[in-house]
Amino acid sequence: MPSIADRLKNVSVSASAAMTQRARELSAKGIKVVSLSSGEPDFPTPAHAIEAAHVAALGGDTKYPPMDGTSALKAAIAEKFKRDNNLDYEASQIVVSGGGKQVIFNAMLATCNPGDEVVIPTPSWVSYADIVKFAGGTPVAVPCLEEAGFKLRAEDLEAAITPRTKWLILNFPNNPTGAACSRAEMAAIAEVMLRHPEIWILTDDIYEHLVYDGFEFCTIAEVEPRLYDRVLTMNGVSKAYAMTGWRLGFCASGSKQLISAISNVNGQNSGGISTVAQAAAIAALNGPQDLLKERAAIYRERRDFVVDALSGIDGLRCHKPEGAFYVYPNMSALIGKTTRGGRKIETDVDFVMALVDEHHVATVQGAAYGMSPYFRVSYATSMEMLGEGCARIAEFCSAMR
Ligand SMILES: Cc1ncc(COP(=O)(O)O)c(C=O)c1O
Repeated sequence: MPSIADRLKNVSVSASAAMTQRARELSAKGIKVVSLSSGEPDFPTPAHAIEAAHVAALGGDTKYPPMDGTSALKAAIAEKFKRDNNLDYEASQIVVSGGGKQVIFNAMLATCNPGDEVVIPTPSWVSYADIVKFAGGTPVAVPCLEEAGFKLRAEDLEAAITPRTKWLILNFPNNPTGAACSRAEMAAIAEVMLRHPEIWILTDDIYEHLVYDGFEFCTIAEVEPRLYDRVLTMNGVSKAYAMTGWRLGFCASGSKQLISAISNVNGQNSGGISTVAQAAAIAALNGPQDLLKERAAIYRERRDFVVDALSGIDGLRCHKPEGAFYVYPNMSALIGKTTRGGRKIETDVDFVMALVDEHHVATVQGAAYGMSPYFRVSYATSMEMLGEGCARIAEFCSAMR
């Protein structure tokens, strides 16, 4: 038989995708599954973005685009960075890719040599470690403990850095914990990074607009301008504008050398991003921004509801995060118990699997994000679903012996 490349040997299938598949199988049998596992907004894409795509397609904007993004979209991105982050980037410092995910993929492929280490504050989005391995690098997890509000402490970061460290990846507000970083906390991280001038910093700001209770988002290149040349600031339209299916993300850096390397990879693996998606993104970035605050207010209500509901369940402990649309409850008190259906709970994987099979609520095990025993609950769904989901989780936990 012909064979598959060795580079795929350690790269796993996303755990949240595996849970979505399990939920689909149950749904296909006619079972009503409450899905709290999906990492995407339940809101629609703004109508003006859809209209812009329509107009672009009808107007003949259907040819190969510039590999690194149209000049109109780059101008909208530069304006976004100035408006939201007080960062100055020129068109030559920006690359547009097929989602934030492809930005990360391109950046790792453009820079990692075998043995290079990438420091990943953990719990972390499932894809970082796999992308790093794909690129030949070695992921190094730094624990962000519940006791510290799942934040990255400067001393833990310092301890994880070695002469092989190539990148630090920051993602606050965080998937899966929702933890965000204050200016003072970011300044402490920046101080460590100033002592290590040979390390790139990727900041994944995809949840930037999802912060609550007046919490102010900040990003490292703005907090510490001396890092500007080493920071790759990544963002996209997926989460903020509910445009996950359009597949559009972007990045910018003070280093033109890094941008040119990323652009080279981007050109080879995509040939540029869909012209209609670029037109939609321009409309989203340049259009009215009120929807960001309106939607954030709805997410905040949902977060408060979910944190209260889960905190009231015996056996769970639920930290209240500052942002994103996830909570990450601790279920260590349930380890060793047996479910009503007779399943012994030894790990968070056992917990989420028994929960979906017996009470039909889909969540994702903490193990997938590198920290156990926890599970991730996404509240990017209706209050009705959240109410039903939390009630089922409560029944599931209270029936354990
Ligand atoms: C932290 C984080 N970064 C990036 C992405 C992917 O973003 P995109 O849809 O733009 O590829 C996700 C999606 O779940 C995410 O949680």
